[in-house]
Amino acid sequence: MTTRILTGITTTGTPHLGNFAGAIGPAIRASQQPGVDSFYFLADYHALIKCDDPQRIQRSRLEIAATWLAGGLDPDKVTFYRQSDIPEIPELTWLLTCVAAKGLLNRAHAYKASVDKNLEHGEDPDAGVSMGLFSYPVLMAADILMFNAHRVPVGRDQVQHVEMARDIGQRFNHLFGQGKEFFTLPEAVIEQSVATLPGLDGRKMSKSYDNTIPLFSSAKDMKDAISRIVTDSRAPGEAKDPDNAHLFTLYQAFSTPVQAQAMRDDLLQGLGWGEAKQRLFQLLDQQLAAPRERYQQLLARPADLEDILLAGAVKARKTASPFLEQLREAVGLRSFRTLVASTTETSKKAVKSARFVSFREDDGTFRFRLLAADGEQLLLSQRFADGKSAGAVSKQLQQSDDADVRVEGLGFGLWLNGEQVAQGPSFTDAAARDAAVQRLRAALKPVEN
Ligand code: TRP
Repeated sequence: MTTRILTGITTTGTPHLGNFAGAIGPAIRASQQPGVDSFYFLADYHALIKCDDPQRIQRSRLEIAATWLAGGLDPDKVTFYRQSDIPEIPELTWLLTCVAAKGLLNRAHAYKASVDKNLEHGEDPDAGVSMGLFSYPVLMAADILMFNAHRVPVGRDQVQHVEMARDIGQRFNHLFGQGKEFFTLPEAVIEQSVATLPGLDGRKMSKSYDNTIPLFSSAKDMKDAISRIVTDSRAPGEAKDPDNAHLFTLYQAFSTPVQAQAMRDDLLQGLGWGEAKQRLFQLLDQQLAAPRERYQQLLARPADLEDILLAGAVKARKTASPFLEQLREAVGLRSFRTLVASTTETSKKAVKSARFVSFREDDGTFRFRLLAADGEQLLLSQRFADGKSAGAVSKQLQQSDDADVRVEGLGFGLWLNGEQVAQGPSFTDAAARDAAVQRLRAALKPVEN
């Protein structure tokens, strides 16, 4: 079975080395494994929630798209697209919004953090909270459920959102699936290394700490950043402690085990920090020079990027569009045309309007008949001591989709749980009897449309 892996990248910034090592690189490698079907997309609708600077949104979409492709993502092998090119996603978002409990969304960390901050400052709890921020997890659920992803690689802060997608998908399945699971329930996959790649100051590399190493801008930018990595004050010649040097952690994240061992030994032997930084630069530059070059080429041809992403959208919509059609059907957004067609079609009409009619016998027992649309009596039930039992049996008959009809001579009986509960009329020949059995089966079949 193929595993569908899906992840989105919010387009509000420029990817740095930490993003590349922690998320982009592993995702690209995962997409090259056999047996996986990957969906990677630019979460540009999500970006609008946090950012109202159109220039920045546009720039970031371009840079992130170029980063993934420069890093080796093969758009023919995966589905790579912009969220905002898939109109089915906001449509699904609405269907999900209508089943998502507000109480569930009240508990979302991002929203709660805003409320807590407001309360701390004596403000209205919802001050500055847009509906976009509040509904953020529903849009994310639509991203994930639209493609029935099995696995969703995310940072730790997003795990709760994936769990909400499970909840919301499960609720939709329950309400509208009629036994069918429309949505696959996704699992969050945490990239351990996301949390561990340190920045210049040793804290997690993150734009919000302003401690990042740039990825593809230029060799010089990278070198400048590396020169600012914080180290202890041990002089060249003094033994260093590799296990407490984030410079070494960074080196190790990109080196082979053999290279790491050599670096460790040299640090223990007193390799100077300046020299160590130079080695880190060389290691990174050796790995990143070629993709950097590709990145610059891609950025220079934005129209080509546009074509690649539009082709990705076409591919994604091949799945999304028929699936959304099924979901619209499920919730009752159906064409009137099929309704007209089915009421004029006699066999379906019979199915639709066959009905159970219950009555009381003179002896006080209860029975029901099943009447076809044209009034033909298809079944007469046994006698039941009370109306409730009669009702329960007719209800079960309406709900079970495999009627146990047993032919007996020129008539037939209907069985339920090992007991005969009703019988059909007697016929003058077997053909007439069999035709009646067929009409009965059609009448008992749950209406599908
Ligand atoms: N919210 C995610 C983030 O900021 C990005 C995202 C949007 C996402 N939709 C997604 C991630 C669907 C995984 C699956 O990191």
